[in-house]
Amino acid sequence: MTRRRRIYEGKAKVLFEGPEPGTLVQYFKDDASAFNNQKKGVITGKGVLNNRISEYLMSRLSEIGVPTHFVRRLNMREQLVREVEIIPIELVVRNVAAGSLSQRFGIPEGTPLPRSIIEYYYKSDELHDPMVSEEHITAFGWAAPQDLDDMVALSLRVNDYLSGLFLGIGLKLVDFKLEFGRLWENEEMRIVLADEISPDNCRLWDVKTNEKLDKDRFRQDLGRVEEAYQEVARRLGILPEGGPSDVKGPKTLQ
Ligand code: TMP
Repeated sequence: MTRRRRIYEGKAKVLFEGPEPGTLVQYFKDDASAFNNQKKGVITGKGVLNNRISEYLMSRLSEIGVPTHFVRRLNMREQLVREVEIIPIELVVRNVAAGSLSQRFGIPEGTPLPRSIIEYYYKSDELHDPMVSEEHITAFGWAAPQDLDDMVALSLRVNDYLSGLFLGIGLKLVDFKLEFGRLWENEEMRIVLADEISPDNCRLWDVKTNEKLDKDRFRQDLGRVEEAYQEVARRLGILPEGGPSDVKGPKTLQ
């Protein structure tokens, strides 16, 4: 077997050179980290589940016209993606107060927000991903005003679509983080959704009980972390119980 060239290793994923120019292989690890890497651990099976969950969500988003880097899943832990130039901004969309927003403004967790709020964070491990404004992003050249407009418009579409999709399976999309990249095709540039969408970068609460089914179970030592990721996959209808023929798609709750 030929060894593939490793392009980048992050906390939860590794990117390898892809089989054709302009492609990469995204490998999902079981490693978990929180609080700027101060807390580290392993969530057994997380990589396999996030690979499946992100494949599912990116595919549905692509069907409604949201451009993404996702090409296809290759195996249990790997997916083929288009190589993009990552924009160094994490865009967070919030529907309900939680996490750092609750802390920063003293708003009790679970308070519905009057409207969806978008925040930007500059991707820098050394600086601990500081929150930034549109002014910083355009003045420092991290993204052009048009890029930012495209990112915001896409994020709101993702929020509308995923909020409905999750509500249909009894989950509240509290907040989530997206990353975008520039994809060059015939001298033209398009902004596309990159990275992953999974319980690692979404807050998902059970609609009836408010039980947390996401990485907060790891961050807050709530236990049953693996089970939470499995439950999200199960509700999406992508957790095979007796083999791949069991995969039927999401079952809408009444
Ligand atoms: P926060 O409340 O900690 O700012 O997180 C908001 C959302 O963004 C939450 O769903 C988790 C996600 N997130 C990431 O995916 N990566 C990060 O580095 C941070 C800080 C948050």
